[in-house]
Amino acid sequence: MMDAEPRDSEPLGFAFRRTPWMFRCLGEADREPVWGPGRFVPYGDIPLEPAAAILSYGCGVFEGLKAERGEDDRIRLFRVDANAARFRRSAERIGLPAFPEERFLAAVEGLVARSADLVPPAGAGTFYVRPLMHGTEPLLGHAAPRRFAATVYGCPVGDYFRSRDGVRLLAVDAARAAPGGTGSAKAIGNYAGALAWRRRAAERGLDDVLFLDAAGTGRISETAGSNFFGILEGGEIVTPPLDDTILAGITRDSAIRVARELLGLEVLERPLSIDEMLSRGVGAFCTGTAWTVVPVLALEATACRRDFEPSEVAGRIRQAIRGIQSGARPDPFGWTREVPSIRSKHDTEATHRTDTGGDAAEEAM
Ligand code: COI
Repeated sequence: MMDAEPRDSEPLGFAFRRTPWMFRCLGEADREPVWGPGRFVPYGDIPLEPAAAILSYGCGVFEGLKAERGEDDRIRLFRVDANAARFRRSAERIGLPAFPEERFLAAVEGLVARSADLVPPAGAGTFYVRPLMHGTEPLLGHAAPRRFAATVYGCPVGDYFRSRDGVRLLAVDAARAAPGGTGSAKAIGNYAGALAWRRRAAERGLDDVLFLDAAGTGRISETAGSNFFGILEGGEIVTPPLDDTILAGITRDSAIRVARELLGLEVLERPLSIDEMLSRGVGAFCTGTAWTVVPVLALEATACRRDFEPSEVAGRIRQAIRGIQSGARPDPFGWTREVPSIRSKHDTEATHRTDTGGDAAEEAM
């Protein structure tokens, strides 16, 4: 059953809705080429046996990116090539074969094109695309799977947080990732560890958690789903430098480049301790594909809490990035890529057949 159409009265949140299409491609390490032909098929269950390597050993990676309809009715993807490159790097980090970047681009573009009717009107939301790759081989022992699948699906979304004003964070004396680990990859296993901490934050009326470094030196790393920027007295903007514990966020990079190259602001990529943030911080914001650019309104740590006004700098960076994403302002970086919409006879056929539980219509790619 499809449930992509939100009711008019309900604002689009960041919630999953089934949409008609997904892309599927199977790979085998012992074959040349490793990746078989991809197919666009009706969204639905995927075959996975209980012993599949992903279920025991978490050998999988994913991505998140957005397509957006502008006032000119054109649909643009934002920095899809950067997601393709990170998908490759993440897979390599956990020992899976890279999915070719040009095929990633074609799969994402093909999905968005087939889903064009579900890309919200200008200003009403975006179409979030979730590419995924994981081991499918049944394995009892710990080994790199030799059979795997790449899948791309998506759905219309709105803001990640109910409140558009900003987020309140609980700084926890715990690490999301450790040196030598997989923190810089978008590995599936990086995300489960934050859930219990997020529940603790929710119990205190807060939105998310801010992790510190694994060495216990009190350096800020990132939240459960975004990179962190502190604004210190004097206007200094600081974000933790990229290393193997920090996800190389594409919105993080976009915010740094927009701040430096469009707004003429200085951004320092240097360690920032929670003590410095609590004593010298005058504001903060977080960046992520799903979060976009969100001001931090409160930072609660063990001994104290700081409340911040919504950062004016964050607002300017957000506005510039959102303008480029939506096509409302020029794109001097060449970050957006227009997606032509396609409506083949298969679209109607696939939607209809899925709705009625009939056979899948498929399109090879
Ligand atoms: C994204 O921002 O796209 C992510 O994948 C993070 C996730 C927690 C929503």
